[in-house]
Amino acid sequence: MSSLLEDKVYMVLSETAKRGVYPLHAYRYGLFRIPAELNDKKEIQGVIAALKQAFKIDEFADRIYVTSKWKETDVTSSKPQDWKEAELEITVEIVTGDVVDIIYQIKPLEYFPDAYWVKNYRSKADQNAKMIIDSIIRNTIIGEKWKQEWIKKQKISEQEAQKRLEGLTPLAKPLAVAKPAPPPAAKPVAQQPAATPQPQVQAAKPAPQQQQQVQKQVEKPAPQPQVQPQKPAPAPAPTAAPSSSAGGIDINFRSNRQIAEDHFGHHVWGPVNTPDLLGIHGTAVAVDFDICIADGACVEACPVNVFEWFATPGHPASEKKADPTRESECIFCMACEVVCPPVAIKVTQGVHPFA
Ligand code: F3S
Ligand code: F3S
Ligand code: ZN
Repeated sequence: MSSLLEDKVYMVLSETAKRGVYPLHAYRYGLFRIPAELNDKKEIQGVIAALKQAFKIDEFADRIYVTSKWKETDVTSSKPQDWKEAELEITVEIVTGDVVDIIYQIKPLEYFPDAYWVKNYRSKADQNAKMIIDSIIRNTIIGEKWKQEWIKKQKISEQEAQKRLEGLTPLAKPLAVAKPAPPPAAKPVAQQPAATPQPQVQAAKPAPQQQQQVQKQVEKPAPQPQVQPQKPAPAPAPTAAPSSSAGGIDINFRSNRQIAEDHFGHHVWGPVNTPDLLGIHGTAVAVDFDICIADGACVEACPVNVFEWFATPGHPASEKKADPTRESECIFCMACEVVCPPVAIKVTQGVHPFA
């Protein structure tokens, strides 16, 4: 998630421990508390029914355990009979009550005896946990209640609250039942190639004889990753960004948007309404600030240091963004585009940076 757990490891507050939430030794731990009451049995059953479509669900006392499994295949051997396969899983725990705690603990790899060869296990588990959490928040009454809290306390509109929720949950799987269709969030969503927000996580079939490890989700009817639930394409509201946080950056932003301002030598494609709506920064190397969750993979991946952190306090998706301040230095290796989990970056060769 996304932005909610961007720092990945959280301190356990004493009030949390009192609720019986304890990190296990050697497990990596993520916790997020949502100010929403979830005590009503019917509401709890509604949460379970929505999540059952895509995940394995267990219940115990005041907890709902949501598990996602995935398969890893090691095809590094040239002999198919030597290929290895392992099934891994990650569980996110929802602790119901006067507030909702959402917790996950990443088990050590040794927990899965046949999976010692799996590479990048922790980051895959982390990514899958975030996908579950985003799915929980986006598709159940928990997210709805959170929205109502913003509307009441921060006096924002339903539409703004929905947009914020979508910005916070870019990895959500769209689930069918869930909740009433969100209000028009402004945007022509589907004009881009199916954007996969977890490039290293969702891999295609193994190409035999190739030296690689692949990972496949082995969950249920796998709803298409990251495609917006079907909603009518609404007329864009003037203050909402014309790109979808769930579907990745709008690759046609140069025709769909207008330049709102300049920023450290690059254009900003609007609309901009600080601090909630920040637009797309850059042209040849474009970063949708409203989708960026400060993952940082692009900053690390870029061989020529195109990006620089820029603080964006108060933005719902993250409080800093990868700003393409040196886009004219780009050598078009495309690494940043590939590694960005929410698909917030579009690199276009042959476009003048300041065009
Ligand atoms: Fe860097 Fe991305 Fe260009 S990684 S070189 S900004 S394509
Ligand atoms: Fe943001 Fe994606 Fe980079 S989330 S920090 S643009 S990897
Ligand atoms: Zn900028």
